[in-house]
Amino acid sequence: MNFGLTEDQRDVREMVRKFAEQEIKPVAAELDKTHRHPEEICRKLGEMGIMGVAVPDEYGGAGMNNVTYVLCMLEISKACASCGVIVSVNNSLYGYPVMSFGTEEQKKKYLTPVASGQVEGCYGLTEPSAGSDAAALKCRAVLKGDKYIVNGTKIFITNGNVAHYCVLAVTTDPALGYKGVINLIVDMKNTPGFKVGKIEEKMGILASGTAELVFEDAEIPAENLLGKPGQGFKQMMMGLDAGRIGIGSQACGIGRAALEDALAYAKERVQFGKPISTFQAIQFKLADMAMQLDAAELMLLRAAWMEDNGLDYEKESAMAKCYASDVAMNAAVEGVQIFGGYGYTKEYPAERHMRDAKICQIYEGTNEIQRVVIARKLLGMR
Ligand code: CAA
Repeated sequence: MNFGLTEDQRDVREMVRKFAEQEIKPVAAELDKTHRHPEEICRKLGEMGIMGVAVPDEYGGAGMNNVTYVLCMLEISKACASCGVIVSVNNSLYGYPVMSFGTEEQKKKYLTPVASGQVEGCYGLTEPSAGSDAAALKCRAVLKGDKYIVNGTKIFITNGNVAHYCVLAVTTDPALGYKGVINLIVDMKNTPGFKVGKIEEKMGILASGTAELVFEDAEIPAENLLGKPGQGFKQMMMGLDAGRIGIGSQACGIGRAALEDALAYAKERVQFGKPISTFQAIQFKLADMAMQLDAAELMLLRAAWMEDNGLDYEKESAMAKCYASDVAMNAAVEGVQIFGGYGYTKEYPAERHMRDAKICQIYEGTNEIQRVVIARKLLGMR
């Protein structure tokens, strides 16, 4: 077994680490405070190929693999969790289905601008009454001639406020359950009947916009259908399998930031005449944080490696996302504890890590749903 990275992977990680330290980390607090979309960072990451890491060069991506994607996500999210999720959605939730199920024409037209980082993409799945139960969609598409007429509302859509393109999950008939789900590519800047609705006010990942998408007799060309009718739900599930690796990596990056900050602080902070890092109570916290984050990272790399090698990685991706986000949350909470009173203030980023980490246990499938996915596989129910 070889735990080493290839030279290319080490080079990319070094490039992204340097960029994240020099250009992302210094503005992370400002982005959090102002809720500003990090436009300039997205464009630069695009030039570096990081908005479509595993997308082939011919469609604007970097032509690398999912292990490299994990490495990039860890570095970016360590510097800024909001930037991390923007990159993850571009690569996975939007990039994956267009890359995997799109026609040559669809990929050229709709994947290239997003994978090359000229514009953002998003995925429209969640609705007010369809969250964990992803098959219960009400947003409906009716085929009329050469157009789908779409009516309904999507909520909590990451990148929804800034994206140019959306892969939209809709039902052609709610009575068909999951078999009625289709995915349509929506040009969000050029679709009559579509508008961006409310922008959510959230606890964390504040520079990542979370929007409502409103469709009122919106006209979407029938040629924008991904694959065939009846395939949409499986496309969605496969996209989520891929996306959970991205979100797990985002979580792990946040946890690493919490650990690094706490380590540095523990060495500086003097109480009872000694740095608090000399007390075993603090050492054990740091040791647990490091141990759990290392395990999470290995699980993420395993899931990505399985994806790269064409293996069934549904369970491993769910495990990695669930575990990484649980241990990242723990690291962030312990990070605040190590900072003590200062950890509860905005003077240090510890409180931001805690707010940012929480969402990773919720989105891309709650951790309760990850456990459902894992258990079903264990029990041979899928
Ligand atoms: N790959 C391929 N096919 C799959 C699959 C997978 N991973 N999972 C299920 N399927 C297939 C099943 O085999 C079945 O097909 P057949 O009948 O032909 O065998 C079909 O899909 C239906 O499967 P289920 O009966 O298992 O479906 P279900 O209704 O019980 O739902 C679920 C399963 C796992 C709970 C699913 O609804 C789910 O993942 N829910 C969570 C939704 C989610 O993750 N939302 C996140 C929103 S995006 C987001 O949060 C991103 C962000 O902001 C950053």
